[in-house]
Amino acid sequence: MFYTLKKVVNKALVAFVVVATLVFVFSWMGFSWMGSAIAIEISETSRTVVLNDAGEQITLSLEDFAIGQRQFNSSCAQCHIDGGSKTNPDVDLSTLTLANATPARDNIESIVDYLTYPTTYDGLGSLEELHPSISRSDLFPRMKDLTESDLSAIAGYILAEPKIVGDQWAGGKPKR
Ligand code: HEC
Repeated sequence: MFYTLKKVVNKALVAFVVVATLVFVFSWMGFSWMGSAIAIEISETSRTVVLNDAGEQITLSLEDFAIGQRQFNSSCAQCHIDGGSKTNPDVDLSTLTLANATPARDNIESIVDYLTYPTTYDGLGSLEELHPSISRSDLFPRMKDLTESDLSAIAGYILAEPKIVGDQWAGGKPKR
């Protein structure tokens, strides 16, 4: 009697483990399928951005885009949420505002340059002590964690995101 009870309990336990594993595996498959469906929606066109002043273009991989988005959210979004610039809303991150800066900041290399030596919008002054940069990571310790490829990914994200979310990025209009 006692042994049969033990067998039943054992069987129930095995059945439970099998069912739980199946549920876990299927939900995981479901989530990863959803993940790739979301990723597929970010078209190559949206991920193709200008690389340098010569106008060469580059298509960000989905992974680069995801890295750029994550790093932007953790290091920049407290001031640049949705592409705005909190304490100076005129100098936002819309692609047109970036294009009208001196020098133009509407490509990956020039944004990475800004994140190394940030300058005023007219290009005449240095913002090194005011804007986070990797050259003054003593003042902005968060910048220490960003590698050169993280900076490129962030820059790529800044140029790709407005093509995906439209007017939700910096209100869609240049302020300058
Ligand atoms: C403490 C707030 C703050 C943080 C954090 C910050 N920024 Fe900025 N950023 C600003 C402000 C304010 C401006 C406008 C500067 C000016 O007055 O010219 C600006 C300007 C810029 C510009 C130039 C925009 C243009 O139209 O010319 C770029 C590019 C930029 N930030 C990128 C970044 C990135 C990328 C990060 C994260 C690594 C970041 N910023 C983090 C506040 C911040």
